[in-house]
Amino acid sequence: MGREDLTADIKRLKRARNAIILAHNYQLGEVQDVADLVGDSLELSREAAASDAGVIVFCGVRFMAETAKLLSPSKTVLLPEARAGCWMADMIDAPGLMRLRSEHPDAPVVCYVNSTAEVKAASDVCCTSANAERIVASFKEPEVIFVPDRNLGAWVAARTGKRVVLWPGYCLSHVRILPEDIERRRREHPGATVMVHPECIPAVTAVADFVLSTGGMVRFAAQSGASTLIVGTEIGIIHRLEKENPRKTFVPASEAAVCPNMKLTSLESLRDSLDRMEHAIEIDGSVLERASKSVRRMLEPK
Ligand code: 13P
Ligand code: SF4
Repeated sequence: MGREDLTADIKRLKRARNAIILAHNYQLGEVQDVADLVGDSLELSREAAASDAGVIVFCGVRFMAETAKLLSPSKTVLLPEARAGCWMADMIDAPGLMRLRSEHPDAPVVCYVNSTAEVKAASDVCCTSANAERIVASFKEPEVIFVPDRNLGAWVAARTGKRVVLWPGYCLSHVRILPEDIERRRREHPGATVMVHPECIPAVTAVADFVLSTGGMVRFAAQSGASTLIVGTEIGIIHRLEKENPRKTFVPASEAAVCPNMKLTSLESLRDSLDRMEHAIEIDGSVLERASKSVRRMLEPK
């Protein structure tokens, strides 16, 4: 079946199911193009909470679809590719977090949304890369536990001046971006502006001009006067940046920054998911209740 027929099929099924299609900024271009909303983790979770569609199809990875389910438990949330996990989320489990908690009994636990529902349930509040600094700074305690991303945690520690207890998790795609990649790109594109994601290693965030969530990069690119931007994050975002800013040049900091989990979802798997109502996210009741508290707390007005 051709791409146009597939797209027509997806639109027809979407209407029949009263569904909304959410896609993360790292998804394949053709998947982004058929989505109702493309965004970062925070923007997509806000939409999942607000939407009145009966079915949410989440083109992203499992923790994102789980977050949508935590915010809208009565809705059907579908993850087109059951295998689409997140390496970082799998680097910590709830017993591990409980052990760390017992070593720092006075420290609140902030957990990055890139985590399982069980880990969210064992945390006080969630955050995304877009609000991590504000959430950590909001605690009066001088010490905060931050899991699972040690790089985002270190960046937040430097910005807030808090003592941040880190977990040794990281994103295998983002740690592939090295300071020498940034230096090389700057030499190749003199005068270009460098924006990187806070999941990059500290040696990279230290040499960037701006450290931003993927949604922050999209907004920054639109309003920046720079004609060339070097982009230090998963390369799927380049599709959206180029589409929305046809007169600007976007250069990936490293072609190696690819998240294979994000590339699993295709137009075919999206169509099949809507057709067969697969793969619905289910979260155990007691986990759901505690984990949704952590996610809702993150969305409370400042
Ligand atoms: P954003 O929330 O910035 O889109 O990041 C999500 C993610 O998984 C980064 O690797
Ligand atoms: Fe997880 Fe990294 Fe992929 Fe983001 S880019 S979903 S953190 S593995």
